[in-house]
Amino acid sequence: MMKNIKLSFKLNLLLGTVVLMLTIAVSLILSGILENYAEQIVADQASLLIETMNSVRHYTSTQIKPELEPRLETDRLFLPQTVPAYSAREVFEQLRSNEKYNQFFYKEATLNPTNLRDKADKFETEIVQSFREKSKSSEQKAADLQKQDFRTIPGGDLFYIARPLAIKQESCLRCHGVPEDAPASQIATYGKDNGFGWKMNEIVGAQIVSVPASRVFEQAQKLRWLVIENVFIFLLLGIVLLNLFLKFTITDPINKMSFLSKKLSTGDFDVEFERKSNDEIGILASSLNRLKVSLKIAMEMIENKTN
Ligand code: HEC
Repeated sequence: MMKNIKLSFKLNLLLGTVVLMLTIAVSLILSGILENYAEQIVADQASLLIETMNSVRHYTSTQIKPELEPRLETDRLFLPQTVPAYSAREVFEQLRSNEKYNQFFYKEATLNPTNLRDKADKFETEIVQSFREKSKSSEQKAADLQKQDFRTIPGGDLFYIARPLAIKQESCLRCHGVPEDAPASQIATYGKDNGFGWKMNEIVGAQIVSVPASRVFEQAQKLRWLVIENVFIFLLLGIVLLNLFLKFTITDPINKMSFLSKKLSTGDFDVEFERKSNDEIGILASSLNRLKVSLKIAMEMIENKTN
């Protein structure tokens, strides 16, 4: 079957297959690389945010709390500005009020919180429970535990990082142990029912940062198609150039030579095989010219003999 197919068609068939395979290969490799890259971007964002929130917490407990602590005993209502969890949450809410970041979330999700806005939902409760189990069953310290993953919510895909919130200092138990020890202002503001009964070294909640992942992955997909389109166009352009090269340097000269050879074979010795280059085609043209001369001499000899 291939016997009757033209050279240029065979070449294009081969090149077409190569281009197709190359495009598929590039697409597969690229989608792997870009997916990893997109994952890295959202993980970096989440990790930067959780570290920033920890800095806010640290600032609150080392610089704000000592300043305001005396007022906890004298003011009627509690000053939440002294609580690291509160300041981190407030700073993050400020960030979220910017439209660009309203899909970012921060929560100190707690099983038995003082402020009910920190109450862990079903998903967060499972994370806290898994931290509790892991810290019990393994040698791993609570501080080293971390969970990160993707999750889908109605608004799109999120990437989250969760870290355990554990009670490491006895001083925490003043306000989270028994209500009797807590400042009166705390009881007046939050009541006696929530945020008490915590124990030393207990994991009481999880600090969770979520960042939107859908947009980053959409951008990665767009980039993938852009690269594939360009590679494809580039390769097609290569095929066109190769075809032109093939036409002018090989097929056209061969066609011309075969036309002239045909003429020669019918006794037309006026044909001239043009040698335009020194490549194989040029050498073939010279050989054919020599063949023409030899043929002419042979024919003349035969003619002379018969006469
Ligand atoms: C002076 C009292 C006080 C002390 C001491 C204190 N907390 Fe709190 N904590 C609070 C109050 C009040 C809130 C709720 C603040 C709000 O309105 O968001 C809170 C909130 C929290 C939250 C967020 C969940 C929740 O209960 O709403 C965590 C987590 C937390 N505290 C951990 C700690 C840890 C850990 C320590 C010790 C390093 C500590 N707290 C020391 C009073 C205290």
